[in-house]
Amino acid sequence: MVLNRCFEFEATWIAVKVRTEMKAVRFNEYGNPSVLRYEDVEQPLPGAGQVRIRVAATSFNSVDGNIRGGFMQGPIPVKLPHTPGIDVAGTVDAVGEGVDGLAVGNDVIGFLPMDGTGAAAQYVLAPADILTPAPKSVPLADAAALPVVGLTAYQALFDHGKLTAGQRVLINGAGGAVGGYAVQLAKNAGAHVIATASPRSSQAVTSAGADEVIDHTTTSVTAAVTEPVDLALNLAPVAPDELAALVTLVRPGGVLVNTTVWMPAPSDEARDVRGIDLFVRSDANQLAQLVASTDRGELRVDVAERVPLAELPALHARAADGAVHGKVIVIPPTA
Ligand SMILES: NC(=O)c1ccc[n+]([C@@H]2O[C@H](COP(=O)([O-])OP(=O)(O)OC[C@H]3O[C@@H](n4cnc5c(N)ncnc54)[C@H](OP(=O)(O)O)[C@@H]3O)[C@@H](O)[C@H]2O)c1
Repeated sequence: MVLNRCFEFEATWIAVKVRTEMKAVRFNEYGNPSVLRYEDVEQPLPGAGQVRIRVAATSFNSVDGNIRGGFMQGPIPVKLPHTPGIDVAGTVDAVGEGVDGLAVGNDVIGFLPMDGTGAAAQYVLAPADILTPAPKSVPLADAAALPVVGLTAYQALFDHGKLTAGQRVLINGAGGAVGGYAVQLAKNAGAHVIATASPRSSQAVTSAGADEVIDHTTTSVTAAVTEPVDLALNLAPVAPDELAALVTLVRPGGVLVNTTVWMPAPSDEARDVRGIDLFVRSDANQLAQLVASTDRGELRVDVAERVPLAELPALHARAADGAVHGKVIVIPPTA
């Protein structure tokens, strides 16, 4: 009898232990990609206003490498050990107190708080109000390629750039993940889109809808753009003088929006051209608009690579070497 109780206790303890552990990638100190560890951690429980998501995928964003390297401790103060991964696509599997409008089984996507625990794990907690129903027209995991870069493109063009139909927009660095969405969104808004891209990206940028593509490896963008643009969007790691040269291409009263915020966006006050540094923010309503465009077939979600969660440290290392091109999603094990 006593022995049986012991077995029951043991069995229950094992069941609880199995149920409450999960795989995650974390770092316990800032540094190069070798600080990342693929390990077993406790599965989190949702608090008030939160849901727990069974992660279908997160994605790699270049800011992940900067946070891991310790370069963002001022603007994005994370607590160590830290799990990266600010994009999430997955399925709600537990709901905290006071959450309305989301239920277990709902497929969702979101841009998680940048200073919180990320989605490079089998489960992640998210504030319910930052989540949006996932698109139905793309595989759930692939939808992790949308939130951060899609919102960056949207906010650059429309919140800051105030782009409207018939305007001319220059997208410098259109060959990357943000650029793919920016070209599509600008074209869908009825703008004339001039994009810069190297030969490896030129086909993708053309198929995204660019009216003109300038090969930045052979041609100077300032020489190639002969008529002023209403908006210039810089997504490329250009030198400060090249960023300043983009201002000269903008018409008086127009705007330069810059996402590479380690160089402040220059302005030209004499010609009333304003430089704006963009810091993307989570916005569930805007994300819902991007999802709706995706499901109407107006916005393509491109995934360059799908890698298992255990290979996230190697992915960070490749990114640090400049060997990652396009959006990479990161997929945790299902069991
Ligand atoms: N501030 C924010 O809130 C925020 C948010 C999201 C992203 N970002 C930043 O925005 C930038 C773009 O993000 P992303 O995810 O699209 O990065 P990405 O995928 O690395 O794309 C950048 C692209 O720029 C192109 N490029 C490189 N050198 C260039 C040059 N000299 N001239 C023109 N194009 C050049 C490359 O494409 P090709 O060589 O194929 O042409 C590259 O794919 C990154 O720096 C990222 O950190 C900032």
